[in-house]
Amino acid sequence: MRTVFLNGQFMPESAATVSPLDRGFLFGDGVYEVIPAYGRRLFRLDEHLRRLGQSLDGVRIEHPWDEQRWSEVLHELVERNGEEDQSIYLQVTRGVAKRDHSFPPGVRPTVFAMTSPLVPVPGEIRANGVAAITLDDIRWEYCNLKTISLLPNVLLRQQAIDTGAAEAILIRNGEVTEGAASNVFVILDGTLVTPPHGPRLLPGITRDLVLEIARAAGIPCEERSVLPAELGAAGEIWLTSSTREILPVTRLNGAPVGDGQPGPLWTRMIALYQDYKRAYKANADRS
Ligand code: PDD
Repeated sequence: MRTVFLNGQFMPESAATVSPLDRGFLFGDGVYEVIPAYGRRLFRLDEHLRRLGQSLDGVRIEHPWDEQRWSEVLHELVERNGEEDQSIYLQVTRGVAKRDHSFPPGVRPTVFAMTSPLVPVPGEIRANGVAAITLDDIRWEYCNLKTISLLPNVLLRQQAIDTGAAEAILIRNGEVTEGAASNVFVILDGTLVTPPHGPRLLPGITRDLVLEIARAAGIPCEERSVLPAELGAAGEIWLTSSTREILPVTRLNGAPVGDGQPGPLWTRMIALYQDYKRAYKANADRS
């Protein structure tokens, strides 16, 4: 039985219960983070907690704790569950109150966290990549906030799955924004191109790390608007997220991307990313 954390206490998952009046349940009124842990050390924790703070501020939920307390609780949760590599999910909702759209006064946020074993991306997908389709981005105007109101993302992802694809790449006002649960990179003439931070997409921690690692390796990068036509012209397309790292898209809307195989820059980038993780784990072992 896995251990979870709810409102200040560690407990078995089966013992964790939340009121049906919780505003997360009634309104989707909350924010979340997904943080990988490698070698039981939380990866890019400062960046994830900074983004959590921005999401909380963005929806005007009070910060339940400071970063030190988050770090202690999440590390203990990882230790209690034990696996070397885990994916941590944490959620803060506005709390439990009589149903009314306006903010309830004096209510404490509900804080929940759980982990699951982090499963490596299957060899089949690494070898052959995944398929994606493009869809209209039907989401709201604050996609930079990581809110739990994910119904549009759920519908978009399922529409992709229904066509046999793994992800939907979203287009808004004639520009590529991101995936239903990932950021998007296109490779044009050896340059990594990805849409810039802004309200239309989540500032992905993996996205930012890929740019950091690529720049350090001398790979040219551009953060600028990406046009749908550039998806068609790209030699490679990648999707990035904390749980799936860097996925090569090898078919888009039924047509091959490049030669239909994961490209050479992806092969280089995923190796650099794994090196970075290995160095991170090694540092963790010494500390
Ligand atoms: N989602 N964009 C969206 C809409 C996302 O939901 C995610 C991640 C990302 C990538 O962000 P990061 O690199 O920080 O994981 C981009 C998580 C994994 C999820 O909802 O499960």
